[in-house]
Amino acid sequence: MSEMKHSETDVTATNKALPAANPEAPAATDAQHTEDVAKMFGRMARWYDFQNRAFSLFLDCWWRRNLVRAVVPGPTKHVIDMAAGTLDVSLALLRRYPELRVTATDISEPMLRYGEEHKVRPAERSRITTMVADARQMPMPDACADAITIAFGIRNVRPRMDALREMHRLLVPGGRACILEFAPVSTPVFGPCYHWYLKNIMPKLAGLVSRSDNAFDYFAETIVNFPKPSAFSEELREAGFSFVQHIPFTLGVANIHIAVRG
Ligand SMILES: C[S@@+](CC[C@H](N)C(=O)[O-])C[C@H]1O[C@@H](n2cnc3c(N)ncnc32)[C@H](O)[C@@H]1O
Repeated sequence: MSEMKHSETDVTATNKALPAANPEAPAATDAQHTEDVAKMFGRMARWYDFQNRAFSLFLDCWWRRNLVRAVVPGPTKHVIDMAAGTLDVSLALLRRYPELRVTATDISEPMLRYGEEHKVRPAERSRITTMVADARQMPMPDACADAITIAFGIRNVRPRMDALREMHRLLVPGGRACILEFAPVSTPVFGPCYHWYLKNIMPKLAGLVSRSDNAFDYFAETIVNFPKPSAFSEELREAGFSFVQHIPFTLGVANIHIAVRG
């Protein structure tokens, strides 16, 4: 069905030392970080959907559904789902908008392959293309998509600004980048409890159900270090977007950012 290019990611390699998710980390580590992230998700692919549902109590499905609703099909009838993982958002797009074609891209070939093999229905195969591609440097022409979606992917990308500029380049004028991402929570009482759960409980629970406790340490760090929604809105403006809005969900645990190319 797809034009999937096979990555050279070694999914069997062990990686106990993911770089800290520190936004101030030097640029020299960006390539290594991206390779480590691809390996980590490659190892998690089989467990990924189960862990998502279990740790979010199925809220992740609701957040993604709202992300897909934020998309507005336009003249190209093409949407790019960046960091598509196991294709939850890509498939929700296909099912909500029957006229759309979706290109699902990710740096982890095992994540995409899991989605292709287990989740894509035969009738959908002609409308979805999967491709191993880095959000920072997409192999597609300017203004080729009506919308870009990225769910829980942008906080893994370093430097983030490169991916935001790519989104802007790929969109038609008036097109939207629709970004779903976690954020540090500043709500009194709930915020500190949530951060404590993320750092102390979730990695241990994850270790019980899979070998991915290290991945969940990384998961907590990337959330705590991600910019607050208003700061991320500023980054989107700096990337060239002329209209930027964010909608908080579940006391700000997740946010949908909508950024429109002028
Ligand atoms: C938490 S998963 C999210 C997957 C999917 N979007 C979802 O909603 O479940 C993050 C994904 O981002 C991908 N990723 C990380 N850095 C990336 C990059 N620079 N370019 C493209 N994908 C990237 C990972 O391989 C992983 O599949």
